[in-house]
Amino acid sequence: MADEIESILEANALYHVYDSKAEDGNVVALRGLHVKVKPGEAVAVVGPSGSGKSTLLKCLGGLMKPSAGNVSLDGKNMTRLTGQELILLRQKTVSFIFQEGNLLPHLSALDNVAQPLRHQKVSPKEAKRRAQELLDELGIGHRAKGLPATLSGGEQQRVAIARALITNPRLILADEPTGALDPITSREVLALFKELHEEKGVAFLIVTHSAEVAAFCDRSLELRDGRFIAQHGTDFEVTDLAESRELIVDDIGTMVFSPDILLEMGGAGRYEVEEVGDGRLVLVSAEENESLLVGGKTLATSCPACKYVYTDDETQLCPECGAVRPMV
Ligand SMILES: Nc1ncnc2c1ncn2[C@@H]1O[C@H](COP(=O)(O)OP(=O)(O)OP(=O)(O)O)[C@@H](O)[C@H]1O
Ligand SMILES: [Mg+2]
Repeated sequence: MADEIESILEANALYHVYDSKAEDGNVVALRGLHVKVKPGEAVAVVGPSGSGKSTLLKCLGGLMKPSAGNVSLDGKNMTRLTGQELILLRQKTVSFIFQEGNLLPHLSALDNVAQPLRHQKVSPKEAKRRAQELLDELGIGHRAKGLPATLSGGEQQRVAIARALITNPRLILADEPTGALDPITSREVLALFKELHEEKGVAFLIVTHSAEVAAFCDRSLELRDGRFIAQHGTDFEVTDLAESRELIVDDIGTMVFSPDILLEMGGAGRYEVEEVGDGRLVLVSAEENESLLVGGKTLATSCPACKYVYTDDETQLCPECGAVRPMV
């Protein structure tokens, strides 16, 4: 029974390394992540460009095999499944929505939406009927015959959503699903997600730079350099990250401070443990009268996530996308 399963998606000690023959060597994109998404829960993943969000999503959805660690989908350990078993499990549990490029260019909107059902032995006639029904529901039924290239960005994304929904997935993994859309269309897409979440109990894991998308989710995980550094609740305010977040200590005891917190503490350096225990850890700088910013690091001049150019030397969170301003 679905209700007995504690999590629809769970990952433990997930690592991913991209092998590279280039001089700069291998890239460690994920560094021991743990994630748990309960059935019907909506979780956002936020973080600067290059922090590993897309890599995480691909590993979680079984599109890419992580270098190490386990991923369970609907209670089944994907890393142990054979190719065919994995495909079947994915097909009946999870759908993907990417920023763009979700559609097959040579198929009409209708055929794009119907296509996932072809693999499930549904008759072509029935598949088309259900596809048309979904397109109608999403308000683009009249564009069913159009090829993707003839549809607007918003229409394409709605077709992509219909395609994602046709298999009745219990989990949707989305990588910046509104990233390429104008504000009005992205609000429409979000309203649709909300309906699916609230009325059909679909679980979501959404990579996003958008404060609105993050606010729709039950909680947001902040990723930085392949590690989760913090979790934010529903009251998540992108302009107010530091006040609304819980910091995460992982299973091997590693904790990563984001630049804004680090800056407020006085920067990198030596700290003494003044108090520890009972869920408390008090650190006090061990370096008196010293500038604690190691190596003369300063805050970046532009946002790595959305390229916003900072106008002062103090702002620590991007006013455009909410990403933490890194030190350079
Ligand atoms: N195919 C690849 N080969 C080598 N390195 C890669 C590859 N794909 C991603 N990386 C590297 O892995 C790290 C994480 O990349 P990823 O695409 O997961 O980041 P992201 O958080 O999704 O960024 P963005 O917000 O820009 O989409 C980056 O350092 C990136 O350069
Ligand atoms: Mg990405």
